[in-house]
Amino acid sequence: MEKEKREIVRLEKVVKTYHMGEHTVHALNGISISISEGEFVAIMGPSGSGKSTLLNMIGCLDVPTEGRVLIDGVSTAEMTEEELTRIRRDRIGFVFQSFNLIPTLSARENVELPMIFRKVGEKERKERAQKLLEKVGMGDKSDHRPSELSGGEQQRVAIARALANDPSIILADEPTGNLDTSSGNEIMNIMKELNRTGRTIIVVTHDPSVADFAERIIRIRDGKLDVS
Ligand SMILES: Nc1ncnc2c1ncn2[C@@H]1O[C@H](COP(=O)(O)OP(=O)(O)OP(=O)(O)O)[C@@H](O)[C@H]1O
Ligand SMILES: [Mg+2]
Repeated sequence: MEKEKREIVRLEKVVKTYHMGEHTVHALNGISISISEGEFVAIMGPSGSGKSTLLNMIGCLDVPTEGRVLIDGVSTAEMTEEELTRIRRDRIGFVFQSFNLIPTLSARENVELPMIFRKVGEKERKERAQKLLEKVGMGDKSDHRPSELSGGEQQRVAIARALANDPSIILADEPTGNLDTSSGNEIMNIMKELNRTGRTIIVVTHDPSVADFAERIIRIRDGKLDVS
């Protein structure tokens, strides 16, 4: 199938500086990247090279010190706090290394949460959450709490939650970092399927076998693109 080439994410000379007392840390040091709709991209680089910082910029969790991050052609620096919140809620699904599920809620309630923030009615919410859990192979465990699930199962629930508001971009920061190889592969196969159905996937990973799932690898080092 021919993929669309529309640019969905663009970074222009992005600099992110943190001040730690006397110290200045250049987490990102002038990064320019263009990602098209429907791409599956892996971001790799040594620890501390700026991968999470980069992902947080794309996810509108943070704005650059210098340069611009554009989502669908709109600079995040020009968005109001409300607009940023809406983009994070409706356009972007986040998946983290540590799953970040709410321990006191069932799998289904965890998946319902982003829909509550969007004010989706209860019946529709429950049905959709159940459907999403089925999609990731967790339909029969929707009443389980996170502590009653394996790591791989918790990550599937986290993916279902990321899909709750039907985002076009999925951002994952070391999604297989706490999983064994086989569970990690299952998670990446789900990502691949999500990509096949049109979503843009951006995955940060240390693991070359995880990066193999992507069609493009962006390497960074010391906050810069590593072109060596
Ligand atoms: N909130 C912060 N305050 C100060 N320094 C920060 C902050 N966040 C990140 N940094 C620094 O910015 C640099 C890049 O951090 P980042 O978390 O993006 O690296 P990373 O590539 O994701 O590393 P890892 O592979 O270990 O997760 C590091 O030197 C880090 O210490
Ligand atoms: Mg990181």
